[in-house]
Amino acid sequence: APPVPDILSPAFAADPYGAYRIMRESHPLILHEPTNSYVVSRYEDVERVFKDKAGEFTTDNYDWQIEPVHGRTILQLSGREHSVRRALVAPAFRGTDLQEKFLPVIERNARELIDTFRHTGEADLVDAFATRFPVLVIADMLGLDKADHDRFHGWYTTVIAFLGNLAGDPEVAAAGDRTRQEFAEYMIPVIQDRRESPGDDLLSALCAAEVDGVRMSDEDIKAFCSLLLAAGGETTDKAIASIFANLLTHPEQLAAVREDRSLIDRAFAETLRLTPPVHMIMRQTATDVELGGGRVPAGSTVTCLIGSANRDAARYRDPDRFDIFRTDLTSTTAFSAAADHLAFALGRHFCVGALLARAEVRTGVNMLLDAMPDVRLADGFTPSEQGVFTRGPASLPVRFTPVAG
Ligand code: HEM
Repeated sequence: APPVPDILSPAFAADPYGAYRIMRESHPLILHEPTNSYVVSRYEDVERVFKDKAGEFTTDNYDWQIEPVHGRTILQLSGREHSVRRALVAPAFRGTDLQEKFLPVIERNARELIDTFRHTGEADLVDAFATRFPVLVIADMLGLDKADHDRFHGWYTTVIAFLGNLAGDPEVAAAGDRTRQEFAEYMIPVIQDRRESPGDDLLSALCAAEVDGVRMSDEDIKAFCSLLLAAGGETTDKAIASIFANLLTHPEQLAAVREDRSLIDRAFAETLRLTPPVHMIMRQTATDVELGGGRVPAGSTVTCLIGSANRDAARYRDPDRFDIFRTDLTSTTAFSAAADHLAFALGRHFCVGALLARAEVRTGVNMLLDAMPDVRLADGFTPSEQGVFTRGPASLPVRFTPVAG
C-alpha cells in the first residue's frame, strides 16, 4: 500500500485531494501522532461520526480548539443544553427574519463592495469581495455602528489566523489573545445598550430570545458573536471564492449559470461538495468505537476529513469533476444538504447558518454577474487553493468590461 499521508505535511497542503484518495483506498483509519488524533476519510465513516446515532462522539475537543478565542459557544455544548441554546439563536437564521430583515442587509453590503471596483474592469474577487462580504453582513446584521465595521473585519482576520495557527507562531497567538479581550471590551457595552434600547437587529433579537425560561447572558451573546466571525465569516468567504474559481475555470457552466440564475443553488451545492470551505472537523470519542475498519479508544480525538468524504467514489460518480448538472446530488439546494454533501456537517451541530450562507451566495453571485458581464480570469492565471483545516482560493484576479449600474 502507498505510504500513509501526513495531514500536516507541505505536500498535503499543496494537494490534499491525492492524499485523500490514498487514505480512502488504503488507510481508512490513521492514527496521526502529531495531532494525536484518528483520521477518517471515507464518506460512510465521516457521515457516521456526524450523525452519531449511538451517542459515541462528543464535541469536548472544542474546549481546547475554540474556547481560547471564542469562549463557550453552542459548538461545545451537547444534549438538552445544546438544543435549548441552539433554539435561542436559530430563528434569526431562517424563515421570515432572514427574508424580511436581513435580505436587504445582504443586498446593501454586496452593492457597496461591488461599487468599489465595478468601474475599474478588474478586481481580485477574494480580496475585494469574498473576504469582506460575509463579515460585513454579520456586523450589519448585528446592528453595529458602520464606523466600527473595519475594526470588526480586523478582528475577523486575527481570529481566523489564530484558529489556523497550526505552527504555533507566538505572535499570532498573542494577537488572538488581544482580539479576544478587545472583542469583549467592545461587545459587552454594545450588548448592554441593546438590552436597554432594543432595535430591529440581530443583537437585540439575541438579547430578547427566551426558550424554556432560558436566556443568554452578555457573555453568551459575546461568545456567539465571536463564533460568527469564524463560523459565518470565513466559511462563506471561502465558499464565494470557490464558487467563482470553479465557474471561471468551467466557462460553459458559468455561461449556463449566467443565463439561468436559478442554477446558482446547484453551483453552490456542487462547490460545497467538491471544494468545501471546512475540510476538517474534530470530535472526541465518548466510548471505545469501531470506525474505519479499526478500533478507536474512548477519549480519543477523531479528525473527520470532509474534503475527502465529499469525493468518495463509493458515493459520487466521477467525484473529482465539477459538474453542476450532476444527478447524484439529490437536493441541489445546498441547505437540505443531508443528501448531497457533508460541507455543513450533519446531525445536532448541522450548520445553523446554511440558509444565510445560501442567501449570501445567491445575492453575491447574482450581483457580481450583473456587474461583470464578461468576467474572466486575468490572463495566464490559474486559481490555487490554500489552507488545511479550512481551504479556498488564495486570490482570484479577474477582468471584465465595466457596465453602468
Ligand atoms: C456549524 C460549515 C456558514 C453559523 C457548522 C458546521 C459546519 C459548518 C461544518 C458544523 C461544525 C461541527 O459539527 O463541529 C459552514 C459552511 C458555511 C457556513 C461551509 C458556508 C458555506 C455559516 C453562516 C453562519 C454559520 C453564514 C451564521 C452566520 C454556524 C453555527 C454553527 C455552525 C452557529 C454551530 C451549530 C451548532 O453547534 O449547533 N457550520 N457554515 N455558518 N455554523 Fe456554519
